[in-house]
Amino acid sequence: MVTTADREVAALVQRFLPAVKSRLREAVPNAPGLHGLLRYHLGWEDQHGEPAEEDGGKALRPVLCLAACEMAGGDWRRALPAAAALELIHNFSLVHDDIQDGDVLRRGRPTLWSFRGVPQAVTAGNAMRVVADDTLLALSRVGLPADAVIEAAMELTARYLEMIEGQYLDMAFEQSDDVTTDNYLDMVGRKTGALIEGAMFLGALVATRDASLAHAFGVCGRRLGLAFQVRDDYLGIWGDPAATGKAVGADIRRKKKSLPAVYLFQHADESERAWLRATYADDEVTADNVDRVLAILDRLQAKAYVQQVAERQAAAAVGMAAGLGLTPAVRRTIEAMAKFFVTRQK
Ligand code: IPE
Ligand code: IPE
Ligand code: MG
Ligand code: MG
Repeated sequence: MVTTADREVAALVQRFLPAVKSRLREAVPNAPGLHGLLRYHLGWEDQHGEPAEEDGGKALRPVLCLAACEMAGGDWRRALPAAAALELIHNFSLVHDDIQDGDVLRRGRPTLWSFRGVPQAVTAGNAMRVVADDTLLALSRVGLPADAVIEAAMELTARYLEMIEGQYLDMAFEQSDDVTTDNYLDMVGRKTGALIEGAMFLGALVATRDASLAHAFGVCGRRLGLAFQVRDDYLGIWGDPAATGKAVGADIRRKKKSLPAVYLFQHADESERAWLRATYADDEVTADNVDRVLAILDRLQAKAYVQQVAERQAAAAVGMAAGLGLTPAVRRTIEAMAKFFVTRQK
């Protein structure tokens, strides 16, 4: 079912995406070798280096950044270097994340490491990060004063360092059966919330030198990011792989403490919990045991719980936006984004 929020977000994406795409093409060198790996991951080339137009992702971070710039009263075109840098940082994280999570499928395509090997995928991820840093500095060519460019660079760096900390925690939690809901929210706030916070902060920063307004946009973005990741956890178990382009159940196999798993350990009965602890003591959860985990999640009505948490986070983001003194039209845009984040199928 296509909702009003879907339509509003689709309109935003349609308006901003062509400029984002061409800014990204400008950022990634059109050279052979290493940069070909980046172009593959971004969906611009196939595995043989032939030009292609494959799924390069939803580009939600750059769209949010440009929308925030416009919502804060700026000319969104000036924020394009920041928008492209955010998308490249996001893609750097995904190239490494697929290695870290052992995933062979993303956006319905083989992950880079799965056919080029881990060492070269690590190299490609690092290169993507450097291209991102470089791209952000092009803000100095859109008339932004030097101190604002430095502030923007410091913001992006701080947020992606937080993102990397989130990745550290995500992997550390694979070995723990005692992850609390607060531990979980802290981890996803970093791994996913931080970059979405940065997207809204940077968009607003380009529009205005009002630091408190940029900060307020950022705080709202972080909440949106939490909602986004909780829905990602939901889709990782109950999503349609044809839509998400990712394998279902991979989070359980890898012992991820996604929100369904946190809930599972908290609410399973005593015998289930004993079984879970024994199962999770192995390196990976086997396919049969994944099925049993799914059955327990079902009994505990975890699906409804997880969706409710996503919606609560989205409502908190909307509440924050209400306190920003924004026009009703701008508030509606944030509401649509929040709604889309928790109802999206991919
Ligand atoms: C996936 O992000 C990784 C998370 C932080 C949940 P997206 O769902 O935005 O990925 P693409 O870029 O659209 O594929
Ligand atoms: C991705 O988290 C977050 C980062 C890469 C920083 P996940 O591992 O949960 O996301 P997917 O499901 O693989 O996209
Ligand atoms: Mg992953
Ligand atoms: Mg991961």
